[in-house]
Amino acid sequence: MKILDQEPDAGSAISYAGLLEKIEIMRSTLRWASRLERADIEKLLRQAGILRDEVMQLSYKERFVRAASSEAAPAQQSPGQRKQALLARSFVFEGVFGDNPKLLDALEVAEKAAPTDLPVLIDGESGTGKELMAKVIHANGARADKPYISVNCGAIPDNLLESELFGHKRGAFTGAANDRKGKFESAHRGTIFLDEIGELPLQGQVKLLRVLQSHEIQRVGSDEAISVDTRIVAATNKNLRQLIQQGTFREDLFYRLSVIHVTLPALRERRDEIPLLLAFYGDEAAEALKRRPVRMTPRLRDFLLNYAYPGNIRELRNILYRLSCLAGDIADIVHLPEDIRPKAALATAAMAEGITLAKLPASLSEAKRAASDEAERAFLERGLREVNGTVAELARRCEMNRSHLQVLLKKHGLHSKDFRNRGNAQDTMPADGAGMQQ
Ligand SMILES: Nc1ncnc2c1ncn2[C@@H]1O[C@H](COP(=O)(O)OP(=O)(O)OP(=O)(O)O)[C@@H](O)[C@H]1O
Ligand SMILES: [Mg+2]
Repeated sequence: MKILDQEPDAGSAISYAGLLEKIEIMRSTLRWASRLERADIEKLLRQAGILRDEVMQLSYKERFVRAASSEAAPAQQSPGQRKQALLARSFVFEGVFGDNPKLLDALEVAEKAAPTDLPVLIDGESGTGKELMAKVIHANGARADKPYISVNCGAIPDNLLESELFGHKRGAFTGAANDRKGKFESAHRGTIFLDEIGELPLQGQVKLLRVLQSHEIQRVGSDEAISVDTRIVAATNKNLRQLIQQGTFREDLFYRLSVIHVTLPALRERRDEIPLLLAFYGDEAAEALKRRPVRMTPRLRDFLLNYAYPGNIRELRNILYRLSCLAGDIADIVHLPEDIRPKAALATAAMAEGITLAKLPASLSEAKRAASDEAERAFLERGLREVNGTVAELARRCEMNRSHLQVLLKKHGLHSKDFRNRGNAQDTMPADGAGMQQ
């Protein structure tokens, strides 16, 4: 067996984590044992004795815990005080902001979990910041300067999964021309983030369970066991307990992964943060699009403060990028994605712009089509200005087929040459290209 160098115990947090993990392993052995022989009972007793001795050695930490508990408990502090306390403890936020109590709960759990090697399971609806939280945990731990490797379990075809996670030996299968490291080995001494863990096929779950138990992997096509020291953080927007009921997720893996369980609240459960997020992402979008921050009509602002945001923070961010891109100086309801636009407010907006009821489209679908056309035209005009009338470049940025774009330009009577040398052709899309997603 190949053993990679083990680092010396990195201090109290690690040994504390080690203890917790041993207790977890013991609990899981007991949970899954259908019956125990006397010999097994003796073995568990011996392990319990060792654990008790190790706990006795933590006496100085007990003093620390007592000292810490003499401070006001987080529940008695105001959100502002809790945030300040995190800052004072040099907590790395990695761009997470807000001081909603539920978010602070999650951050405080992350703070405690970070210096340990315990597996963490993060769940929450899509766009609530699970990936960001995984980075927070990595950044606040002892592994911060070691690799952080992210794997989307839902995006790897079943037949490549094992090789992707654990690597392969040359000739292990057709196309395996060389030995190759997998993600676990790449994350050695660091953190592996297993995103969309609920999508992992059952066969992959068995293999992952084995890594969690033995801290060893085997490359596909090799018998050699390789020790890996990798901290596991997993995330899902699925209800894993439900998947367990349906038989598509292993219960033992769930308990192994969720030693620490962090649930991120949906944005509608922390509405108090919406004004802050609107301001932040409004500024961020303006900077990315190299323009002044867009101003909002009161009715648009009112809508954004009360909207349900099923896509959570990602949806809010994308809306802000969209508004910044489509609107001129002032954004209104009409600049919202069509499927979330409030119909009544749209009619009011049209009237406020001087369109009389007589001039309003005859039917709702006609009104929607007109508004959609208007937004499309504004988008194309702005896009053409930003790329100096270069249609190929605009097609690339919008990830659109060039000939389809030409058809749209023709539909709106727009001529690319009218936009040459008029604007700034700098890169105006947000860095992650997500600005136009809906
Ligand atoms: N508390 C927060 N403060 C600021 N920005 C946040 C916060 N939480 C999330 N975000 C931002 O929201 C967007 C979505 O976050 P992230 O990708 O981490 O979500 P997710 O839960 O992993 O989503 P999905 O389930 O769709 O993969 C990112 O742009 C992220 O920077
Ligand atoms: Mg994610």
